[in-house]
Amino acid sequence: MVKIYVVDNGGQWTHREWRVLRYLNVETKIIPNTTKIEDIDADALVLSGGAPRIGWESQKLGECGSYVDNLHVPILAICVGHQFLAMHFGGEVGPSKVPEFGKTEIKIVKDSRLFEGLPKKLMVWESHNDEIKKLPGEFSNLASSENCKIQAIEHKKRPIFGLQFHPEVKHTLSGQKILRNFVVNICQCRPCSNFYQTEIVQKIIKEIKAQAKNKKVLFFISGGVDSTVALALCIKALGKENVFGLCIDTGFLRKNEITQLKEAFSKLKFDNIKFIDKSNDFLEALKNVYDPEEKRKLIGEKFIEVQKEVLQEIFRENSNWILGQGTIYPDTIESGGTKHASLIKTHHNQVEAVKKFLKENKLIEPLREFYKDEVRKIGTILNLPDEIVFKKPFPGPGLAIRCLASKETFFLKKNKNIERIAKKYNLTSWVLPLRSVGVKGDTRSYQEVTILVKEKNPLEINFDILEKVSTEIVNKIEEINRVIYLLGNKTSISDFSKAHIISVNLNKERLDLLREADAITISIVKKSPVFKNIWQFPVILIPLSLGKGESIVLRPVCSEDAMTARFAKLPKSLLSKIINQLLSLEKIDAVFYDITNKPPATIEWE
Ligand code: XMP
Repeated sequence: MVKIYVVDNGGQWTHREWRVLRYLNVETKIIPNTTKIEDIDADALVLSGGAPRIGWESQKLGECGSYVDNLHVPILAICVGHQFLAMHFGGEVGPSKVPEFGKTEIKIVKDSRLFEGLPKKLMVWESHNDEIKKLPGEFSNLASSENCKIQAIEHKKRPIFGLQFHPEVKHTLSGQKILRNFVVNICQCRPCSNFYQTEIVQKIIKEIKAQAKNKKVLFFISGGVDSTVALALCIKALGKENVFGLCIDTGFLRKNEITQLKEAFSKLKFDNIKFIDKSNDFLEALKNVYDPEEKRKLIGEKFIEVQKEVLQEIFRENSNWILGQGTIYPDTIESGGTKHASLIKTHHNQVEAVKKFLKENKLIEPLREFYKDEVRKIGTILNLPDEIVFKKPFPGPGLAIRCLASKETFFLKKNKNIERIAKKYNLTSWVLPLRSVGVKGDTRSYQEVTILVKEKNPLEINFDILEKVSTEIVNKIEEINRVIYLLGNKTSISDFSKAHIISVNLNKERLDLLREADAITISIVKKSPVFKNIWQFPVILIPLSLGKGESIVLRPVCSEDAMTARFAKLPKSLLSKIINQLLSLEKIDAVFYDITNKPPATIEWE
């Protein structure tokens, strides 16, 4: 079998490259870009993307130059890897005039074995600030987009290729085919795809037994897919009597969530579960916290604090325990948890205190290497009910990261360049001086939001046009990573220039308002057939007041694994129902729609 290794240069999607190769039944592993050349026995290499900005921050990508010069094997370099190839062979790389994030169309300008069987125009996913400015003579250009001329390159004599876009993410529609072409046409490997069989469960169970030995496992559970599947795996491996579940009410859960959880677990006959209410403690800890990273850290630490208290109570005479978690791969990668990846968000189950457990070998995370769609497959193999296996993801820090606070009062701002873009589409624009988290070119961004307003009939809008304008804004305006569109506001408050950010903290009243808005929205969408196509539907409360209250942002997204996402395009009739009901809440002034893809805007706002 042909061995194709993925060289990790720190990109967010390195693991996905590995996974696609694994699905193609190629023998593969991820190796750091510092691996000594004599330790590499691969028949081909994929050079991943990465956070360093080749050409002006750095000239090198670890030992990649030496691999290119000395290993005469096929190479496929992605994003920063692609830029590195150009530099290495004497070309030039520099900042793009228009960086590209998310959906982009490319045109194939020269035939290649890499693009065999593909149409001439492809919809691909991008995330780059820099681009190749001058292509070295040894290479031909294979593809271009409107804003970036050199999207794909091929060495004229050697099997070396570079791609500016990301073939490994699901949103690049022919991405798997391109990687398959690399594997089959260039590496001469005949793949088959049968990775997912029940052996995967057997393998995980064996690993759990080996790690837990005769210890007991305590799980913090939220009722979400990941923690429930991880818990079920541990029960299967160690027996019910050795596994405990603990559900903490942080005060950040959704309306009626605890009751639903109790019902779901009793159906599963998991009775080793304890529920405790710590909502006052969590709220007190976060009362005056405005920064998302600080919020996440405090929530994670609070979890550990409560956990320690409970552990002392449960395991008073017995220290023979370890902690179980339903961490999945994206939690690790976005928390900067792999060797090179940069921090996007600290997931609550990745804080320092948890890492300490990991070092002491007291942490069991059976799903650490998997993506959500794989976790669902495992859940189905374990015969867990569909209502749990296909439950929409909900983040550990819960509504706390969907309820934005502001220390100060601000008025909306104008930005001439944004106005120019919006005007082309007959839209008015403002800049909301409230920041949200995003991911641009493999690194975290924390930037302001653009608001787009259509003066009349806001629901009569073409979503494809909205996607076009939001993409143009986030690509061209460096300080913006998210765009929202006004769906409706209370008729008595029509003058937008009076809109302002109010100074509010995270408190129970606001969380209850968000809980209500979330429950209203989800109960309407759940009845619609579109619900099954939506990956996740965050509802966010932002302290934007148009008079008496605040605003809601709807963020429905379509995704396969949360590493990339497209905003969902819901039917107008459905939106109209949601808006009417939300605006009937006394404290809600306006309802917006998040029209940004990931990248550059993450699914959650914080
Ligand atoms: P982002 O916002 O990074 O989210 O695009 C990707 C996926 O991860 C979920 N998420 C979390 N899940 N703990 C979790 O268990 C967390 O701290 C956390 N933060 C984000 C998010 O809901 C989405 O599905």
